[in-house]
Amino acid sequence: MVREILEYPDPRLREVAKPVDEVTDEIRVLAEDMAETMYDAPGCGLAAPQIGVGKRIFVIDTATDDEPSDLRVFINPELLELEGEQTWSEGCLSFPELSEDIDRAEKVKVRALGVDGKPFVLEADGLLAVAIQHENDHLEGVLMIDKVSVLKRKLMQRKMEKRARAGA
Ligand code: NI
Repeated sequence: MVREILEYPDPRLREVAKPVDEVTDEIRVLAEDMAETMYDAPGCGLAAPQIGVGKRIFVIDTATDDEPSDLRVFINPELLELEGEQTWSEGCLSFPELSEDIDRAEKVKVRALGVDGKPFVLEADGLLAVAIQHENDHLEGVLMIDKVSVLKRKLMQRKMEKRARAGA
């Protein structure tokens, strides 16, 4: 089921998400809904707080249109290692139509649970590493607007307020 995506400045985007106690069928349905919502948007990542669910889950698919889908689900993720630097022009489904250059680590090592409830460790670089860091931030209530200069932040704020007023 496609869920509604919350947009900045919805206060629920600022809440720190809680760990998932157990990977149940309910959690698997949530992950499916999140994937469906992400593909529908379309986007390459979505965190549970973005659909108003305060749980530590995010989904990512960085495959391009001509590649087979590469859906990854991260439950209770932990970033174990960050290395290097890179800058990407990032977007976020909670900031529609906006993108900004954001500095991130070039490589990440992440541990999480999959939908089968089993832990896995993944080392990623490039866009996948960016997406993991971006989505993991959502679980802490941290948004891309926090990562840009004061001037850009004001500009983003103004654009999003205008959008909210227009009832978009
Ligand atoms: Ni985002």
